[in-house]
Amino acid sequence: MARNETDIRPESMARINTPELAQAFIDEQIAAIRAQVGTDRVLLALSGGVDSSVVAALLIKAIGKQLTCVHVNHGLLRKGEPEQVIKVFRDEMDANLVYVDATDRFLDALAGVSAPEKKRKIIGGLFIDVFAEEARKLEGVKFLAQGTIYPDILESKAGIKSHHNDGGLPEDLKFELCEPVKLLYKDEVRMVGKQLGLPDNMVYRQPFPGPGLGVRCTGAITRDRLEAVRESDAILREEFDKAGLNGKVWQYFTVVPDFTSTGIKDGKRTDDWMVIIRAVNSVDATSATVPELPYSLLTTIRERIFNEVKGVNRVLYDLSTKPLATIEYE
Ligand code: XMP
Repeated sequence: MARNETDIRPESMARINTPELAQAFIDEQIAAIRAQVGTDRVLLALSGGVDSSVVAALLIKAIGKQLTCVHVNHGLLRKGEPEQVIKVFRDEMDANLVYVDATDRFLDALAGVSAPEKKRKIIGGLFIDVFAEEARKLEGVKFLAQGTIYPDILESKAGIKSHHNDGGLPEDLKFELCEPVKLLYKDEVRMVGKQLGLPDNMVYRQPFPGPGLGVRCTGAITRDRLEAVRESDAILREEFDKAGLNGKVWQYFTVVPDFTSTGIKDGKRTDDWMVIIRAVNSVDATSATVPELPYSLLTTIRERIFNEVKGVNRVLYDLSTKPLATIEYE
């Protein structure tokens, strides 16, 4: 999508790094959104990530029920995420929220597909299909709100990424865009989110790829292995939290590769999956180091995974820096 001069951050714009500046931005944007939208309806794809959550919270404050949020659960979200989106936005903020559980559609479409880029294409394409179906059900929508942030615009301009925020909807669904945080950097979006009262685990969320757990269940995704990724990831996050590492380690998650290894249980041979623990420190994801985790934390996680996650007989800690490895596995 062509971007214009309103997409350039003015040099005079102060970095939003205090609650007061965040509040001033919020007040200014509420007025700007009201002026732009008038009495029309606005649609937003709400993933639960920090950018779309902040946009949702801003729009709810500005125009309340004129906003409809659509949360598509593609079945590749982390444990508890769809529930939290419903709790925060529908229950607490009283938003118009359409929740679509499209898990079966996504997993059926992905069955037997092992090439990473093909998996990404299927997930991205189906996401647009599901969102478009929901959009067509709604009448009188004039605007599409998006959580585009300034680095997305800079990357699009530099031709690095054709960011997903730059369109993708079919021709019959051409809305006008409403992008209230498009001139903000990530730390500013978090500051605004905090000031809007969003929960910390939404505001300070680790980076999470669009294809979600789908790229951490390597090769062709199966439901049992996906469950092992989701459960082990939840255990890992819980134990990192308890150890006070939340916010100290940049990104951490688990991966379950698509091959088994031999194990032993109750005197019998098993062929089961392995869980790989991935934890990295980084500034901007272009390079990453591996933190020295306390050994007792690693063994606690191993014991919990052995006891609580079905079909797993091995737990590993990945020591690979970026480069030579990437952060994700595919
Ligand atoms: P890599 O694996 O390239 O990851 O070292 C760098 C950062 O980008 C995230 N990542 C993605 N984010 N869609 C996304 O939105 C993707 O397909 C994707 N792949 C990787 C990754 O989690 C890390 O923070």
